[in-house]
Amino acid sequence: MITLDQYSAKIATAKTPDEVESIRFELFGRKAGVLTLAMKDLGTKSPEDKRTQGQALNVIKVELEQLLDARLAAIASESFGSLGESDSLDVTLDLPEAEIGHKHPIHEYIRKAEEVFGRMGFDTANGPELETEHYNFDMLNIPESHPARDLQDTFWVSSLDRTVLRTHTSPMQIRYMEKKKPPFRMICAGKVYRKDSDATHSPMFHQIEGLMIGKSVSLANMKAVMEQAIRELVDPTVEFRWRTGYFPFVEPGLEMDLRWRGDESKSREGRWLEVVGCGMVHPQVLKNVGIDPEEFQGFAFGFGVERMLMIRHQIPDLRSFFQGDLRFLRQF
Ligand code: DAH
Repeated sequence: MITLDQYSAKIATAKTPDEVESIRFELFGRKAGVLTLAMKDLGTKSPEDKRTQGQALNVIKVELEQLLDARLAAIASESFGSLGESDSLDVTLDLPEAEIGHKHPIHEYIRKAEEVFGRMGFDTANGPELETEHYNFDMLNIPESHPARDLQDTFWVSSLDRTVLRTHTSPMQIRYMEKKKPPFRMICAGKVYRKDSDATHSPMFHQIEGLMIGKSVSLANMKAVMEQAIRELVDPTVEFRWRTGYFPFVEPGLEMDLRWRGDESKSREGRWLEVVGCGMVHPQVLKNVGIDPEEFQGFAFGFGVERMLMIRHQIPDLRSFFQGDLRFLRQF
């Protein structure tokens, strides 16, 4: 016959919840629990013994269950109580100030450009950086043999047929025109890639493409939009000049240069930096997307984002944007 004392001492020495549970199992386990077996054994007793011993066992059972539960609760409160020693919190301690970062200057600038063009009625579009030769070149009137394909120092993707890291954002003109019916105005900003690296080139940089098509959109409209954008995005007093430029997807084509100012080294002071290519969308490009060039016309442009920021903030080396030097990034 089991006694209460035997087990109450054992329960009192259990130190972890697991130890308590294993005693519970030893007592009440369905097949071989000590109490379970004692209860079963009652079946073999005389009616008189069955009654007295059964009552006694029930009392022991209830008491043991209470002891087990009480021990579990005690273990929990002991470990909580000792947290004070093992896990102290000194509220008078000076903590280092939390570092709160901010958006990369390029991304802040792109948001600003979307807002400036948004006010002029331009929709914002997005497109893939992994682009097909079809969109990056063919549809833009840059045929297979065209030297412009070499000029752009393309990164080809060796594992995918006729696929490139887009060399410019101009393929978005095509993707947009294939989906929408003119008239429309859109800009698309994003990363572009070329095998180039020096103070004014980086193998990855950002462009903002723009496109405006309608029944009577003119070159004069283009110049007005671009000059307004430059004043807002670079500086109201920045000096710029227009030149003719050649791009197979526009006719005529133009380039806009901005004048360097306040360059510390003085090496660039007064010199010009090309920041945008643009022009009237070539009739062949409109035909490629099923727009009738007799009915619609318009302009397109592609800004170099880093270059605009270089002039705006007098940054001598374009690669500074991507070197991750916090002394540089914190200035924005
Ligand atoms: N995609 C050209 C480049 O990266 C820039 C450009 C020129 C874009 C003329 C245009 C454009 O939309 O009309 O060199």
